[in-house]
Amino acid sequence: MKFDATSGSPQKTRAACAVVGVFEARRMSEPAQRFDTTSRGAIGKLMRRGDVDGRHGHCVMLHTVPGVAAERLLVVGCGRERDFNERRYREVLARSTRQLQEAGVADALSYLPLLEVPQRDSYWKIRQAVEITGDTLYAFDELKTKKKKPGPRELRKVTFGLLEPGEQAQAERAIADGESVAAGAKLARDLANRPANYCTPTYLAEQARLLGRQFPAIRTTVIDAARMKKLGMGALLAVARGSREPPKLIIMEYRGPADGRAPYALVGKGVTFDSGGISIKPAAAMDEMKFDMSGAASVFGTLLAVARMKLPLHLVALVPATENLPGGNAIKPGDVVTSLSGQTIEILNTDAEGRLILCDALTYAARYEPEAVIDVATLTGACVVALGKHASGLFSNHQPLADALLTAGQVSGDRAWQLPLWDEYQNQLDTNFADMANVGGREAGSITAACFLARFTKKLNWAHLDIAGTAYRTGKEKGATGRPVPLLVEFLRARCA
Ligand code: BES
Ligand code: MN
Ligand code: ZN
Repeated sequence: MKFDATSGSPQKTRAACAVVGVFEARRMSEPAQRFDTTSRGAIGKLMRRGDVDGRHGHCVMLHTVPGVAAERLLVVGCGRERDFNERRYREVLARSTRQLQEAGVADALSYLPLLEVPQRDSYWKIRQAVEITGDTLYAFDELKTKKKKPGPRELRKVTFGLLEPGEQAQAERAIADGESVAAGAKLARDLANRPANYCTPTYLAEQARLLGRQFPAIRTTVIDAARMKKLGMGALLAVARGSREPPKLIIMEYRGPADGRAPYALVGKGVTFDSGGISIKPAAAMDEMKFDMSGAASVFGTLLAVARMKLPLHLVALVPATENLPGGNAIKPGDVVTSLSGQTIEILNTDAEGRLILCDALTYAARYEPEAVIDVATLTGACVVALGKHASGLFSNHQPLADALLTAGQVSGDRAWQLPLWDEYQNQLDTNFADMANVGGREAGSITAACFLARFTKKLNWAHLDIAGTAYRTGKEKGATGRPVPLLVEFLRARCA
């Protein structure tokens, strides 16, 4: 897929298809008006007839319109003009991309980024357009022997129409940044969609080494089980005991140009399959637990995007990777283990394994004396109950960090919502047999999971993103979303501005 921008006159620019927006009540966007004029009222006529009604998401494809150099004209309904907002803009982009794909349009000329979106500039609009186009065209078909062809031709190029040549440079920056985020999200989706018999901890470690070879600014190190043992990572090793796949603690260090500041650290939960262990999960939908390394996948994707964008910062990515299986050597409810921090943990439920691997990785992250640490994890089913699939759960011990993440979520459209991390919840983790239990009972499950992690990040500026509801879709649309790559990249980009 290629993206470009042009300030050439709309009616004279050649393409297989030009794309413009129209609103309800026969209101045309500015570029639609232009095409209407050069075609001597072709769009207006269809509006009066009711063929083009501007209903939100309603698309009409016009062929060989006189006075328009593009072979087709896709007229996209944007709803009522005064209701048009970020969400609608994103939906219109997705809808029109699908239309272009189905119609077999190879190269499109899109004027959608000229639509007015309250408080958003053309950099934002073009970047969103690139990200959403990539997102919409994504398919994971590497394990199908017959690839599905969506149309007669693939959509190969989208050119964005600009108002003036002066906008070219900014548009090109928006395209490049959007492509980086899209590439990061695609990597995250590919890794998460890949089934657990392919995507093992060893496989993730290989992918990390590959990133290190692709980008000279990335250095990868992998800590194996023997080294974990020497270091004292008793919690991470406890989870790995039930599986024959060896665990890995993957560390990728990115050093951007002109960095002198303390690093940011990202920690991604990399449970490549979560059966629950001895506290085994029910069979229904257990396949979805291949997505339990989505946090890790998003950390890989973010690193890729950051390296492509050459952001001037120092970033450390840590991925504890393991399976959670009920093998003969598996941990049992009631077992007590000693974490890298020295604190002891009674494992009351082997299915609360994410926090066990994260706590050792978070303790290890402190070695880098980071400016801030953000962990990303499909941590609790309770988070899906609380927030559904629209927002990731956000927890933090440092409000400025939380605020920056919330803002990055708003800007990227990959939103998070903050939940409390009050001390009052901490005693739900009390137990008679160790410093803490790994579960805190039925109430406030996402919060007590975060409270558990908070005990390992006391000296750090730390935030935790629970992406159990946002990292993948279920049902007919089952598959990884690539979230929260857009949020994390925007957060890091804003740090460099
Ligand atoms: N990976 C799961 C969380 C999860 C559940 C993610 C559903 C996505 C969808 C995690 O390891 C887990 O099993 N958590 C338990 C914790 C409980 C035992 C305290 C849960 O949420 O049920
Ligand atoms: Mn689990
Ligand atoms: Zn899990």
